[in-house]
Amino acid sequence: DDAGVPRGDFSGRRVVVSAGGTLEPLDPVRFLGNRSTGRQGIAIAEAAAARGAAVTLVAANVHLEVPAGIDVVRVETAAELDAAMTALAPETDVVVMAAAVADFRPVRTADSKIKKAPGGAAPLIELVENPDVLAGLAAQRRAGQVVVGFAAETGDEHASVVDHGRAKARRKGADLMAINDVSAGRGFGSPDNAVVVVNQEGAVVAEATGSKREVADAILDAVVPLLDAPDA
Ligand code: CTP
Ligand code: CA
Repeated sequence: DDAGVPRGDFSGRRVVVSAGGTLEPLDPVRFLGNRSTGRQGIAIAEAAAARGAAVTLVAANVHLEVPAGIDVVRVETAAELDAAMTALAPETDVVVMAAAVADFRPVRTADSKIKKAPGGAAPLIELVENPDVLAGLAAQRRAGQVVVGFAAETGDEHASVVDHGRAKARRKGADLMAINDVSAGRGFGSPDNAVVVVNQEGAVVAEATGSKREVADAILDAVVPLLDAPDA
């Protein structure tokens, strides 16, 4: 694929990308999860590495192969992903939250397998909200660091896909938000993607349709002008 024409515009930069989907255990064998494969996050990590960055991928339950040359930190839950990203972020120039983080986790994880009692009622699963990793990273961002979020949206009677994404960028304080229209059958698990990238003011700074690698490069193109001057 020719999207990876070597460019050195990320050389000397450290980039951390989260990918995949978190999984929240109910008991030793069961969990709440989502369908995110990690493909878009891996494409961003690969593109950044091809452009000269030192890249760490924080991979939540990613079963796809990660290209050589990318450091991988494996996590399972939102809490583990939060801890890994929060620890890595201070050392990085660019933080990309491409992972699908579970919004809620079970309040309790049973130590042993939940059993059904004969004739008993179905269990109720009580949930508690997970921390917002992206908002936390944006709040602790240091000068010159670029924080990028993703928003998978469908348009509805209240707002368009892009307007939902704009509101999310503002709410979370991300420098850039890559907004993904998931109403058209694109997104999860598909090789292709379409995104609109907005900045914190809501202005559209990039649009891309194509392979996840092409989308990744377009997002990185939008990051470049926000990077601080390279270390002398
Ligand atoms: N995100 C995060 N921590 C969470 C939830 C989401 O860091 N607990 C990040 C995602 O990685 C993504 C961005 O926030 O980069 C937007 O995720 P999304 O699920 O679209 O946003 P939510 O605020 O959870 O809103 P919604 O109610 O639409 O799910
Ligand atoms: Ca969510």
